[in-house]
Amino acid sequence: MNGASSYSGLVDNAFIFILGTSVLLLIGVTLAMIIMVVKYRRSKHPNPAQIEGSVTLETLWTVLPTILVLVMFYYGWAGFKVMRDIPDDAMPVTVTGQMWSWVFEYENGKQSTELIVPTGRNVKLNLESVDVIHSFFVPAFRLKEDCVPGRHNKAWFKSTRDGEYNIFCAEYCGERHSAMLSLVKSIPPREFDEWLGVDPGPPEGAQLLTIKGCTACHSLDGSKLIGPTFKGVFGITETVLTDGVAREIVVDEEYIRKSMLEPDADLVEGYPKGLMPPQGTLVKDEEMDAIIEVLKELK
Ligand code: CUA
Repeated sequence: MNGASSYSGLVDNAFIFILGTSVLLLIGVTLAMIIMVVKYRRSKHPNPAQIEGSVTLETLWTVLPTILVLVMFYYGWAGFKVMRDIPDDAMPVTVTGQMWSWVFEYENGKQSTELIVPTGRNVKLNLESVDVIHSFFVPAFRLKEDCVPGRHNKAWFKSTRDGEYNIFCAEYCGERHSAMLSLVKSIPPREFDEWLGVDPGPPEGAQLLTIKGCTACHSLDGSKLIGPTFKGVFGITETVLTDGVAREIVVDEEYIRKSMLEPDADLVEGYPKGLMPPQGTLVKDEEMDAIIEVLKELK
């Protein structure tokens, strides 16, 4: 597939050169082997000959591979340098990986679960993680960079064609790693400015469930994922473990809030401990209120 970023051709050059060289060498070595086996078989040469070293040959097979490897290095370097030099005019977007979703935040505070970008303009990515190591991977752009907790990795790209391109997580990050799918949507710059300029206001509750990563573990349709489903959860009676002792509680506003702040304090029986990060620093008070309102409605 043709790449869709300004530097994808450079990555492809390195790949094609290395692949081409390897295929040629494979064919050459295999042919030489077959010729030797036939030509010097035992019936024709019952007594093996003693062969002295050859300076010419040894020089050749040292110099030629060195040149080949240096050319490979050159192609790799040429592409890598472009990918590391972030243009000054690039528009910054913060990419946050979390178990198990992506969140994209623009300079004006606008958040999205898909990466919307203007075709033909430089975009700089600030890669962050709130929990474990994730890896932001857009194959069509030949772009892959890790999101490491506590570090601030950077990357950039310029999309050259309008379209939708897959985003994967390329670092195994737990049970729902494969669910970390999203899209880059590359749209004409004017449409982008319009999209970015529209103040969405605070995200709606339902959208919050995705942006905050809740839906990676809690389904909305009743199916069992890593955590209990949100469907019809409000008002039901659950058995929870408090300090290892089972007791019954009613899922009300207070319980939901406590579950977000201290997920393991009153853990629903049958679900694993220590998986959900406390949300105190990740979800604001008013966002918690909005989430609780949505859960009330999810019947
Ligand atoms: Cu995130 Cu794998």
